[in-house]
Amino acid sequence: MIKKYTFGNPIETNATVIDISETKGTLEFFERDNNTFILRLAENDIVYGLGQQVRGLNKRGWKYASNNLDNPNHEEDTLSLYGTHNFIIISGDSLFGAFFDYAGIITFDIGYTHRNLLTVTPDDDNLDVYIITGENETDIVRQFRNLTGRSYAAPKWAFGYGQSRWGYKNADDVRAVAESYRNNNIPIDSIYLDIDYMERYKDFTVDNDAFPDFSGLTAEMKKQGIRLVPIIDAGVKIEDGYDVYEEGVKQNYFCKDADGNDFVAAVWPGRVHFPDVLNSDARKWFGEKYDFLIKQGIEGFWNDMNEPAIFYTEKRLESSIEKINELAKTNMGINEYFELKDAVNSLANNPDDYKLFYHNIDGKKVRHDKVHNLFGFNMTRAASEAFDKICPNKRILMFSRSSCAGMHRYGGMWQGDNKSWWSHLLMNIQMTCNLNMVGFLYTGADMGGFGCDTTEDLMLRWLQFSLFTPLMRNHSALGTREQEVYRFDNMESCRKMIEIRYALIPYLYSEYMKAVLNDDMMFRPLGFEFHDKFSRNTEDQLLLGNEIMLAPVYTQNAEGRYVWLPEEMMFVRMRSLNDYETEILPSGHHYISAKLDELVFFIRRNKAIPLCSAARCTDEIDMSTLHLFGYENSSYELYDDDGISKNISRENISTII
Ligand code: GLC
Repeated sequence: MIKKYTFGNPIETNATVIDISETKGTLEFFERDNNTFILRLAENDIVYGLGQQVRGLNKRGWKYASNNLDNPNHEEDTLSLYGTHNFIIISGDSLFGAFFDYAGIITFDIGYTHRNLLTVTPDDDNLDVYIITGENETDIVRQFRNLTGRSYAAPKWAFGYGQSRWGYKNADDVRAVAESYRNNNIPIDSIYLDIDYMERYKDFTVDNDAFPDFSGLTAEMKKQGIRLVPIIDAGVKIEDGYDVYEEGVKQNYFCKDADGNDFVAAVWPGRVHFPDVLNSDARKWFGEKYDFLIKQGIEGFWNDMNEPAIFYTEKRLESSIEKINELAKTNMGINEYFELKDAVNSLANNPDDYKLFYHNIDGKKVRHDKVHNLFGFNMTRAASEAFDKICPNKRILMFSRSSCAGMHRYGGMWQGDNKSWWSHLLMNIQMTCNLNMVGFLYTGADMGGFGCDTTEDLMLRWLQFSLFTPLMRNHSALGTREQEVYRFDNMESCRKMIEIRYALIPYLYSEYMKAVLNDDMMFRPLGFEFHDKFSRNTEDQLLLGNEIMLAPVYTQNAEGRYVWLPEEMMFVRMRSLNDYETEILPSGHHYISAKLDELVFFIRRNKAIPLCSAARCTDEIDMSTLHLFGYENSSYELYDDDGISKNISRENISTII
């Protein structure tokens, strides 16, 4: 059951899709003190939720701020990342979900200030709070998802392996990557184009010197079963003669400053304007621009820098430079030195700069900070609504860096600029589950790590987890060690892991689409299904669908790991599709060995999963090779369709035995 409580006069966020009439009277479960909602936690209460945040499945013991931020530091003390997902579930003495539907900045102190107190503080008093009660955690999630709408369905090819790197500079770089994958017989479906494909980082342009025949390249790659996926950034370069800039200015489609001038910030191209994607006309206009690339054969995009990220604003740059010049004249000691550092560090993504520009929402001027968390959502919505018009019955791949609850209807998300750290592999495991709770089923992290230099063992272990996530993309930052899997001594093991991924695609796609259709999670915490104390406390094992339990190895030099089995399961240790062992293990605590080149996972009792033969790319998957792998005499409910049209329905489910 869902109850809605309205406070003040909330700004429409478009997070929800069904109207629930307001419950009058006092809010259940929480007390209030001014703006703050207060909940006393029992000692054994678990607090799940918040989607994209650092730390584990149980969010207790830290404070989090929903304040979308271009933040490459995903550390234990991080307060905000790129997305806002204000949904939590309290599971313990009581069981309920709470969704704080709010467009501005809101903080969650979950036992940080006082261990047994949860406090939620929005910036002002205008919001809707939904309280959801249900039979169990899964039921509560389902109701929340029903409230916020059906998740985005990605095309099947987006379940293939993707190679990306910030640094592929021209068509020959792209060709070299494709060739290396194909020559080494490593399956691949997509190569991502980072900012260098554009002319001077201008959205919806192609650098014709670096990519002389862009549509030709797209077609040439497609012939090899490889799709190119370009990045789109939020900021539109200010440059005379650039059509997107000129149209935006002419039609008043950019965000304005207090004086009504187009607001100027700086990102990759230097000075930019932000498209006012909260204005429906501007949103439509910006979305239609994607057609420039669709016309050239592009079938997927990733939206970036849409918190929106700001390197600097004119005013702040001026005052910082003034400050630095002043300081330089002094004998800089402790205080002056830190002031100097501050003058530089406070240039980017400064909260005060988000108060300097305005949106035109249905004719109303709204200051950006009041709706800050909705920007990435609406940029992605712009694209998705345009795709519906440009190609009404074709699924286009779309995922975004910034997001907000409700954006899951329009696209997926990747998990941002992580690092090549083992701890970030664990974070990826936990975040995947947390994002599923709020509807982001199409997700994955930069495999191998984005920042820092990766190592070949980290890459392989990361592959072993990522081969289960819908988005499986190897991406890394400019200047870091190159990490295409063919560069490592253990390429052969990487190839075998990617082949296992391709054999699993019918299963993964099926689980994904069933989760889309049923408002379910594809990945769930063990505690959602088993209520014993070990399952409730397990932070590093996940259930995938109803058939698999994952227990990835995420520590360096480990030759195995401890696993808790809440019930009997089939343990699978796989070196390749034809080289594996299985063993039935009873419920209890186990140590499982898993050498570096061994993928380990579990099949649940009396369950089986469909596997097909490996393929070079998803288009070449041969469904006639499908067979069940797991417990004997079990069956599986398979969802399958053409993978590209929008005819998504339960009729595509059949039982295989
Ligand atoms: C941002 C993105 C990253 C991309 C880089 C350059 O940091 O998060 O994925 O590679 O920008 O475009």
